Amino acid sequence: MIKSYYIVIMMTMGKSIIFANQKGGVGKTTTAVNLGSYIAEMGKNVLLVDFDPQGNMSLAVGGDRKRPGVYEWILKKASSTEVIQRTAEPGLDLISANVNLSGINVELAEQPQREFFLRNALQEIKNNYHYIFIDSPPSLDLVTVNGLTAADLVMIPLQTEFFAIEGTSQLVRTIMMVKQNLNPGLELGGIILTMKDNRTHLSKNVVDEALAYFKDKVFRTAIPRNVALAEAPSFGKTIKAYQPMSPGARAYELLAKEVVERVK
Ligand SMILES: Nc1ncnc2c1ncn2[C@@H]1O[C@H](COP(=O)(O)OP(=O)(O)OP(=O)(O)O)[C@@H](O)[C@H]1O
Ligand SMILES: [Mg+2]
Repeated sequence: MIKSYYIVIMMTMGKSIIFANQKGGVGKTTTAVNLGSYIAEMGKNVLLVDFDPQGNMSLAVGGDRKRPGVYEWILKKASSTEVIQRTAEPGLDLISANVNLSGINVELAEQPQREFFLRNALQEIKNNYHYIFIDSPPSLDLVTVNGLTAADLVMIPLQTEFFAIEGTSQLVRTIMMVKQNLNPGLELGGIILTMKDNRTHLSKNVVDEALAYFKDKVFRTAIPRNVALAEAPSFGKTIKAYQPMSPGARAYELLAKEVVERVK
């Protein structure tokens, strides 16, 4: 009699998602942090990687910016266990950014395979998480290129204002360049409309323009302009911890459901 044994290996296939837009202040960090928080609440393991020398993501979840962070990690000066921090929210971890990261563009410039540092570091821990959210700086420098090379998907937060779309053509070109030369698996995950002001016609025009250009890549849930979202980081809290009933909180909760639905 032949007996067959089936070994089922339960392994999470982690998705790495970068939030990118070279335009500053469009809601990259706010979106990565609050989406991550609501997705963790849905029972998923989420890792936030603060890949911006400004360190806003680390501050927004009350992270420790003095200990070794993403800089030490990608240069193998610190191990994954040394850099991963638990946040106050179950299922939501952080790798922080400290000031050392500011010099990374110059440091990596001369290195072979300089675009692959974040990707290589991520390999080891990728399948411990359902989602890895990478925050990026407002530029298309080597830091952002490392982020794009490490990512499966790019989410583009778009501030709902005039000229929002014009700025994206350079970003889309960079994404295509990375896809062709460095990371064939890279895809556009979606466009997230942020800071929408429902009282103005202007916002509506920009939404229409985004839909015409990016079509079904635009997430249905737009994030409204809401002061609670701007206040929360100063307390080192996500919007869920700070004001869960606010319009901003509600919107990110809805968006989290949409993202989990779309990105399996
Ligand atoms: N929906 C919103 N309503 C009100 N304020 C918001 C909203 N989203 C973000 N903000 C605030 O706007 C500012 C810019 O947002 P955020 O830091 O998320 O943008 P960013 O794209 O990450 O910026 P940078 O390019 O500098 O990294 C922050 O002060 C943030 O708290
Ligand atoms: Mg930011």
